[in-house]
This record gives sequence, C-alpha cells and structure tokens, in this order.
Amino acid sequence: MVYISNLSDHEDQKVTLKGWIYNSRSSKNLFFLEVRDGSGICQCVVAKDSVSEEAWEAADSLRQESSLEITGIVVEDERSIGGYELQVTNLEVIQIAEDYPITPKEHGVDFLMENRHLWLRSQRQWAAMRVRNEIIYAIHMFFQERGFVQMDAPIFTGNAAEGTTNLFETAYFDEEAYLTQSGQLYGEAMAMAHGLIYTFGPTFRAEKSKTRRHLTEFWMIEPEMAFYDLNMNMELAEDFIKFVVNRVLERRHSELEILERDTEKLKKTVADDFPRISYTEAVETLRSDKMAKMLDQMVEDREQKREELKQEREELKKEHGQAKKWRKAQIDQRVKDIGGRLDQIEEDLRNIPDWRDSALNFEWGEDFGGSDETLLTMQYDTPVLVHRYPAEIKAFYMKRDPEDEKLALAVDMLAPEGYGEIIGGSEREADLETLRKRLTEHGLSEEVFGWYLDLRKYGSVPHSGFGLGLERTVAWLCGLDHVRETIPFPRMMGRLTP
Ligand code: 4AD
Ligand code: MG
Repeated sequence: MVYISNLSDHEDQKVTLKGWIYNSRSSKNLFFLEVRDGSGICQCVVAKDSVSEEAWEAADSLRQESSLEITGIVVEDERSIGGYELQVTNLEVIQIAEDYPITPKEHGVDFLMENRHLWLRSQRQWAAMRVRNEIIYAIHMFFQERGFVQMDAPIFTGNAAEGTTNLFETAYFDEEAYLTQSGQLYGEAMAMAHGLIYTFGPTFRAEKSKTRRHLTEFWMIEPEMAFYDLNMNMELAEDFIKFVVNRVLERRHSELEILERDTEKLKKTVADDFPRISYTEAVETLRSDKMAKMLDQMVEDREQKREELKQEREELKKEHGQAKKWRKAQIDQRVKDIGGRLDQIEEDLRNIPDWRDSALNFEWGEDFGGSDETLLTMQYDTPVLVHRYPAEIKAFYMKRDPEDEKLALAVDMLAPEGYGEIIGGSEREADLETLRKRLTEHGLSEEVFGWYLDLRKYGSVPHSGFGLGLERTVAWLCGLDHVRETIPFPRMMGRLTP
C-alpha cells in the first residue's frame, strides 16, 4: 500500500491511494479532491478528459467523508498540501457518505464533543493526536535508553495515594475498591525490585471542578528511582522534559504547523536550565512589588492591544465593500480571528483583578491556584521547578526537609505560557516509624497500607520519583487551551459519551 506520507518515494509513478474525501471543489472540467488516508492529505486533480465517464460521475457523487480508492500519477507541487498532487487516472467509490455533520464551517465545542468519534478526523485533532503519539514514543525512549523498566501498576486498588477527596469508588465483588489515582505506591515496590522503573497508565480522579486542566481519567507516567534524592529527582525531570520537547520539535514540525504552534517559543523552553525556586521564594515573588507592577503592565498591554485590534477591524470593514471575492473571504477570516482575540482580552481584563488579589494576598501555607502558577511562570521562558512545599498541603508519603520539618521534599514542574503544573513529585519517606506516624495523621489505616510499610522494613533506602500528566504535556506542546482535545475520548465531569 502507498500512503500519502510516503508520496515523495513515488514521484512520477502511478499509485493507488485508499482514503476519504476531506474536502472538494470543482471548476468546469476539473475536480479538486482533498483526500485523506490517515497519514496525511493529498490534493487529487480529476480532469474530465483524463478519466472514464464512470470515474467522472463517481467524482461528482463524492461528498465529504465518502471513502474511495483513487489512482493517479504523483507530481511534485509546492503549492499543494504535503507538496505533492495526484493527477487522477481512475477512482472507485467504496461508500458514499451520508451528510456529514462536521462541515468546514465553525461548530460549537459542545457539538464537536458530542461528535468526538468523527471530530477526530479533522485536521487539527489529527495533528494533536500525532503529537501525543510522538510524546508517548519519546517518553518510552528516554526511560528505556536509561535502563528503566516499564512496569504496570494495578487500576483497581484498595489504597488512596493522593488524598481521599477525589476517589472513584467501585464495587469489587463484596469489597470496596477504588480506581487508582496514581501508580506510585506500587512503583515504589517495583523500584525496590528493579532499581529504576516507570509506570505508564491511566489514572482516575473524581474532579468535580470544570477547568481546562482537569480530566477525570488521564494518563500518568511515573518513574520511581531507588537511591535518588530530591536533587537527582529534579535533574531527571528536567532532562526528561527537554528530551521530549526536542523530539517533538524535531519530528512533528508539520503537525505543529497545522496547530499553529509558535515553535520559537517552544524552542526557548528547552534552551536554558530550568530555574529552581523554593515554595517560600515563590510566595515572596507572588506578594512582591515586582508582581504588582507586572500585573499593571499586563492590563496596560492588553488595553493597548485591544485598541490596535479594534482599529484594524474598522479598517478591514471599510475595505470589505470594494474588495474582490477572495479578499473578502480573507477579511472575514481575519475579522473573526480578531473577534476571538478581543474576547480573550476582555476575559483577561475581567480576571486580572482576581489574579492580583490572589497573588498579592497569598498566604504562606496555601496551595497555588491556576492563576498563581501562571503568574509565577510568566517571568521565565522555560518551565520552572518549585520545591519544598508546606508538608500540610502535600501527600502523606513525602519525606520532610531535615532542615525544616514544616516542609516536604516535594517538587512541582510548572510549564510556561500558563499551562500550569505538568509534573508533581518528591523524595519519599523511607523511615518506618515516621511513615507509620504519617499514616495515622492522615487517617489512613495501617491494615490497608501494611504492604507499603513492608518496603520500609526490608532494606529501606532513600528513593524518589515523580508523575508527569500526559494530557497537560500534550496541551502545552500543541498550544491547546483545553485538555479535552489532548486525548481521543476525554472523560470529564458531565462527559461519558462518546
Ligand atoms: O501531582 P500529582 O497528583 O502527583 C501524583 O499523583 C504523584 N503520585 C506522582 C508521583 O510522584 N509518582 O499528579 C501528577 C501530575 C500532575 O502534575 C498533572 O500533570 C497530572 O498528573 N494531573 C492531571 N492531569 C489531568 N487531569 C487531572 N485531573 C490531573 N491531576 C493530576
Ligand atoms: Mg500535584
């Protein structure tokens, strides 16, 4: 089989493609069919005098998403998507599609989510899934090349790893089970057997808030390393993210282009060392005069941008009257884009007072909210590592800072451009008696966690690990503003189908 992605190997040859109609236009004696085959899109030109009458009629009958086999000569054409064009000699219909619900016109997101099973075929969604796949591949490469063993943690569990507030409960014969929130506790057991391991699996949290960063079912990659302390953990997390971003930049250029991702920004994110700041320093930054000034500047910048865009829109509207048809279409598109940008600016301007309030009055001991994370990362081009959080707001298994018992040896990695926390990790408590105490403090039963305590009885060692949220990483690298487009079939509150 020949695939569109490999047409460059078949220049000037006759090939047959199998695929679906993505789009079509016609002029008097020509059809321009955009055919997609899963690997890409190719413009196929059907000239009335180059094909049989049957094939010509078939071309006329094709509606969006109809399936077909199409044969022709591969010709290089710079203007075509993908750089090649097919000069059609024959085509055969496999199925004429019924009226396809997702047309090139704009649809609301609810409608698209209802039709997620079809929406996946659209080009932007296609590109995002290709990037997701590249990220997954890069993750395995990174760990496998460094001698980590991939091991699977169970999905049914009796243990709550990340607090008891967002557990999904399910019946397990006559016992109560949970869907796992994290593979970590099992990862720790595996690391004591294999030294370096990583889990890669689905995790579940009953997130009752609807945000653009939260799914109820998401995929997490959790390396766990025996004999690693917090610093080694941070080092690994930084190398890991740099590796993944570089692979995506190297290999998914055209997908990032489809997504209109600003790759210069993305390149900058891996060009430098990631800053490491303590939670306490982060709090000082949020409360600083510098932050107040930055927020003032944000308002000013947005107000100025708003005026510029409004002016541009006025000028375009004036031009519209006399413009040629093609230019009118261009203007309409641009006016629509400007509308979107203006909505975003208005929303920001409405929100900035809350952001300011949250940042400048931030109290040591609270957890960062989404806007605090965004403001913290705005000062950097790269992700930032925030370490040593108040133990009170972190999980029971984290080791305390020997220098200050109030602090946990935790680390979060915050992505730039407002994508927030992508990694959470820590050094683990390795001492049996201390861990027992923590279980009690957190109201967790020693009975259920008995096996976990065993790890501290039989050759306990310092160890550390972290978890990367796959969907947030995809959102960041693709520049998507909501995690719902980062996974084939997203699960969120109120969304169980398709
Ligand atoms: O920070 P979290 O809760 O850490 C853990 O679960 C640790 N047990 C990991 C470890 O040390 N092995 O979650 C880790 C990451 C977050 O940084 C975020 O990227 C992602 O998982 N995440 C979510 N992604 C999408 N939807 C949600 N509801 C998420 N909750 C966490
Ligand atoms: Mg976290």
